[in-house]
Amino acid sequence: MADQRATNITWHPHQVTREEREQVLGQKGVTVWLTGLSGSGKSTIAVAAEAALVARGRIAYVLDGDNIRHGLNKDLGFSPEDRTENIRRIGEVAKLFTDAGLIVFTSFISPYRADRDLVRSLHAAGRDRELGRFIEIYVAASVETCESRDVKGLYKKARAGEIKEFTGISAPYEAPLSPELTIDTNGEPVEKSVDRLVTFLAAKGYLGS
Ligand code: ADX
Repeated sequence: MADQRATNITWHPHQVTREEREQVLGQKGVTVWLTGLSGSGKSTIAVAAEAALVARGRIAYVLDGDNIRHGLNKDLGFSPEDRTENIRRIGEVAKLFTDAGLIVFTSFISPYRADRDLVRSLHAAGRDRELGRFIEIYVAASVETCESRDVKGLYKKARAGEIKEFTGISAPYEAPLSPELTIDTNGEPVEKSVDRLVTFLAAKGYLGS
């Protein structure tokens, strides 16, 4: 039998536009895509930035790799194909949140450039030319730095061969070529990184007045 997936479906338009929702919220919807090695500081920066925005009356939400893999993406592992599917699904979810007017921080290693570019193109489709709805933030920390932190003890396991295809050790990480912002956490305290991120978002006009 022919594959019947996703046939006979029709796009049903909303009555409310994103712009109307954004007016209610006093902000612009955007996906703030943090990419970097495990232990680079993505999740720490994301949750602190979320808290900083909510404290100033804005609505932000974090989508985190480890958390999403407990639910929506618990069927996926760490092969290149599974990572690509992980990022594709999260890209679609983030796009929906952005359309809802939220400021979404995503915290996924997202090691492949092509996967991140796909998410960028999803957000660009037919929409606003004046304001990017996808911002790529490179959370830069060397493997040595991440390994010395080894908060979850995973680098140790990867070195011992107990975890296969571990990013930075036995699987690749492709750093962004032209991210909107690079946050180098090798020597910078978390508060400073968060401050730079929030200042960047405010300067671009995402946080309203
Ligand atoms: S991604 O590569 O598909 O973007 P994601 O961000 O969702 O990865 O998940 C990464 C988290 O899963 C890491 O922070 C770590 O806690 C855990 N993890 C488990 N196995 C691996 C692995 N082989 N490579 C990288 N991270 C892993």
